[in-house]
Amino acid sequence: MTAAKPLRAAASAEEVFGTQHGLFSRAYAGDDDPLSEARLKALFGPQAAMEGPLARTGVGCRFHGVDVARQLSAEQAAYLIDALSMHSIIVFAGQDLRRVSLAHFERFANHFGAPQPVPKVVTEGVVDAVNEALTQITGQEGERVEHLPVPPESSALYTVTNVEPVKDGSVRVLTPRPRARNPSRQDISEEVRCEVLWHTDQDHERIACNTTMFLVHKHPAARDAASGNWLGSYPEVDHDTFYRHPDLPEGMEHFHTTDARLVRLRQQHLPLNAETAFADTVAAFEALPGAERERLEQIRMVKYERPGDDVDGKGYYCPLIRTNPRSGRRMIYSPVYGSRFVLQNIPPPQIEGMSKAETKAFLDELEAHCLQPRFRYNHLHQEGDLVIWDDYALLHCLPPVKIGITRLEDARLYYRIATKGAPRLTLPRQDSREWLLENLKDTYSTPAEILEVGSA
Ligand SMILES: [Fe+2]
Repeated sequence: MTAAKPLRAAASAEEVFGTQHGLFSRAYAGDDDPLSEARLKALFGPQAAMEGPLARTGVGCRFHGVDVARQLSAEQAAYLIDALSMHSIIVFAGQDLRRVSLAHFERFANHFGAPQPVPKVVTEGVVDAVNEALTQITGQEGERVEHLPVPPESSALYTVTNVEPVKDGSVRVLTPRPRARNPSRQDISEEVRCEVLWHTDQDHERIACNTTMFLVHKHPAARDAASGNWLGSYPEVDHDTFYRHPDLPEGMEHFHTTDARLVRLRQQHLPLNAETAFADTVAAFEALPGAERERLEQIRMVKYERPGDDVDGKGYYCPLIRTNPRSGRRMIYSPVYGSRFVLQNIPPPQIEGMSKAETKAFLDELEAHCLQPRFRYNHLHQEGDLVIWDDYALLHCLPPVKIGITRLEDARLYYRIATKGAPRLTLPRQDSREWLLENLKDTYSTPAEILEVGSA
């Protein structure tokens, strides 16, 4: 009999968040409030302003008058990285998309973490295809965002959209990844596609994405006259159709739940105007009684990265509660039992000392706690926004979207970058090849071209 291999240790807070303890801005702000509007104006100019909180839990901050096409000084980067740590969602409104290119977007993103490379098969030609579709819808050239100067398409950029060109000249939706088979994302009618999968990006990996961000090129502007919303009525979602999809192997419906309250909460309050839906897991943790918080802080999960890892004993430990060492905020980390299973056949997590059934019941209850309306926020995007959210501090869910669109007012087009690892005050990033290969499953270095791109 061979001894089972020991499981991998949990990623430390330093591995997940970086080595900085306390806010970066402390080094610059002295005794002043490091994230005050006065400091924002001192750093970015008198036109800069802040608006928030955006959500009732107190998270979310919208910045005005901050030009993301400009290179950031270390002190400016410190302010913005800290703002994300404290506010969980930050928005840079009013970017001029005739000036802000995807190169500027990628450079800005590099400060927050190492961009997660997206498989070539997903990215190749997609930006071109979407731009072509926009041209088809509008009947004119010019509805496009400039590509990276060199290379023409970055491996970090991904499009989230409901437009793509088809051969007969009409335009229909494929969102967000045209060729992926994703049983949790379904056309629930001829007009609407929906998903009710609350998740954290790459949460099956030992180091998950620390941020996800969108540069918003198009957001649906059309509104139904009767309801005032983009979607005229709330789509009817059949839970069983979603979570017992015929493509899933028998007995493997991990995301399915018999908890009626959780079924209701996953679907309740989903947005009707293509907002990104969030649940604030910092607020959800803080709302628990002290004894419960202490209990959760002791809990360790065993998680898996690949199909079959549970059988092969190749798991790793992961705490249920994470603390951001810069902000000191504690968060319930991705309390969703089977989110990866639906998409990628990844085994669900197992809580130490609990059976599979007990783990599922426990995480279902915790997910339901986090999805209560009091912790929810549907974030409405606007053209020209650059929005960044802290993946560790929030759960998110795609909104229902219209498909088969034929007019620009229904188009949804965001460029997306997700990052991992330590934020950097200065560029280029200095991630070791070893770290990148282990945690990004690929290499990434800040392209020299994007460091040089001007802001004019
Ligand atoms: Fe996501």
